[in-house]
Amino acid sequence: MRFSAAVLSLAASLFAVSTNGSILPVPRQSKPWSAKQFSSLITFGDSYTDESRLGWFINHNGSAPAPGTLLPESFATAGGGRTWPRYVVQYTGATVQGKWTPQMTLYNYAVSGAVCSNNITPRWFEAIDAPFPAVLEYEIPAFIADLPATKVNSTPAVPLYNPKPTAQDAVYALWIGTNDLGVWAFLTDSQIAGKVLADYTSCVYQVFDKLYASGGRHFVLMNTAPLDLAPLYANDSYHGVGDNQYWPDKPTNHTAIAYTMRQYTTSVNNVFKYQTPYEVKVANRYPSAHFALFDTHTLITDIYNNPAKYLNGTGVAKEGESVWGFENHCNVNQTTCVKRANGTNSDGYLWFDELHPSEQTDRNIAMEFVKVLNGTSKYATYI
Ligand SMILES: *[C@@H]1O[C@H](CO)[C@@H](O)[C@H](O)[C@H]1NC(C)=O
Ligand SMILES: *[C@@H]1O[C@H](CO)[C@@H](O)[C@H](O)[C@H]1NC(C)=O
Ligand SMILES: *[C@@H]1O[C@H](CO)[C@@H](O)[C@H](O)[C@H]1NC(C)=O
Ligand SMILES: *[C@@H]1O[C@H](CO)[C@@H](O)[C@H](O)[C@H]1NC(C)=O
Ligand SMILES: *[C@@H]1O[C@H](CO)[C@@H](O)[C@H](O)[C@H]1NC(C)=O
Ligand SMILES: *[C@@H]1O[C@H](CO)[C@@H](O)[C@H](O)[C@H]1NC(C)=O
Ligand SMILES: *[C@@H]1O[C@H](CO)[C@@H](O)[C@H](O)[C@H]1NC(C)=O
Repeated sequence: MRFSAAVLSLAASLFAVSTNGSILPVPRQSKPWSAKQFSSLITFGDSYTDESRLGWFINHNGSAPAPGTLLPESFATAGGGRTWPRYVVQYTGATVQGKWTPQMTLYNYAVSGAVCSNNITPRWFEAIDAPFPAVLEYEIPAFIADLPATKVNSTPAVPLYNPKPTAQDAVYALWIGTNDLGVWAFLTDSQIAGKVLADYTSCVYQVFDKLYASGGRHFVLMNTAPLDLAPLYANDSYHGVGDNQYWPDKPTNHTAIAYTMRQYTTSVNNVFKYQTPYEVKVANRYPSAHFALFDTHTLITDIYNNPAKYLNGTGVAKEGESVWGFENHCNVNQTTCVKRANGTNSDGYLWFDELHPSEQTDRNIAMEFVKVLNGTSKYATYI
């Protein structure tokens, strides 16, 4: 009987040759995903995930936090409230004998405005007079530098990662693409000349190479959101917006914009769907690592199509507006912003502004993320 190289390499990962030459099955972890096992949640991405890191850059004249800096919790992120990984910490923690006891510590490296690599789609940020810090060139090195660091200003010195993350107790999540695919990047042909979407998807696997090399073995890859449903990129029947804070001189053909966004997001998500099992099972790029591909595209589409099940604010003016409208309306140059539901009922909206999921959407993402960690999410493919 003849086997293809792929089948042989699959077989090689399931069996080992013993010293006397016989083939032994390698014990496989019977349940690789269980929400209880994780004590470190280490996140990478953009404003969909950032808690306060871009703010640090802005407030420190463009310089990065020193290794050993644990950034503070924020109640006012780009989504209007707390961000999804903070809710994951909340939902996995418990009150024990009257005392709040988190199970996980969040180490959040996401930076608003980030792309996967500034060698593909750099986007300039005036406030720091530099491109937004990117995942591959900034966020990953910042994490690697933090690993051995002691907490800044701790006396006696306490390690930032205490205890150090292990293969079993640390989970790494990457959600990147919103800026890479959007305005001032691929959508407006602003990429570095010659770069293509495949460079972006390759970058995602290069990020996992670095996390794997640092010892990570549990990875969650969150695919790109349905950006053609976001007011910034939607067509006119889906209430796409005109000139706005994120795209001041936006072209008027919203149909063309929505088509392209739909094309980009679904295409790269299809790459993630097939390349992830290829890299893990066929190319053996990450031996003994576990991947969960979290289909946030479908989750957010489900919220869009069935808002009553997920959104619970009461201040939404018009029927249907909860999914195509948004809470925070700013003028083009961001000098004034008005809260549509007067700041009290933003949980009724899927979007906080033209681009960002609301806090209630983030709660839904977090609830599902906990199921993803637990091996039980219908939105996850486990590889
Ligand atoms: C801020 O950074 C710029 C460029 O790095 C530098 O020229 C300037 O002196 C810095 N300003 C302050 C107040 O540190
Ligand atoms: C508008 O966008 C939605 C979502 O991408 C799509 O389903 C719909 O067909 C589009 N409508 C038009 C008229 O292009
Ligand atoms: C807008 O873009 C769509 C899709 O590319 C195209 O079919 C349509 O003709 C354009 N409309 C105008 C007014 O140019
Ligand atoms: C909506 O539900 C979330 C829990 O998912 C809760 O924390 C929040 O307070 C609710 N919002 C409103 C306006 O009731
Ligand atoms: C803000 O934008 C408006 C036009 O929408 C313009 O008239 C005004 O001068 C701008 N303000 C600033 C501070 O740039
Ligand atoms: C918000 O406040 C304004 C002015 O007070 C009012 O006209 C509007 O109806 C309020 N909107 C909601 C959703 O309550
Ligand atoms: C995880 O799944 C187990 C069953 O496998 C269940 O008992 C437990 O409640 C789940 N935990 C969470 C946090 O979803």
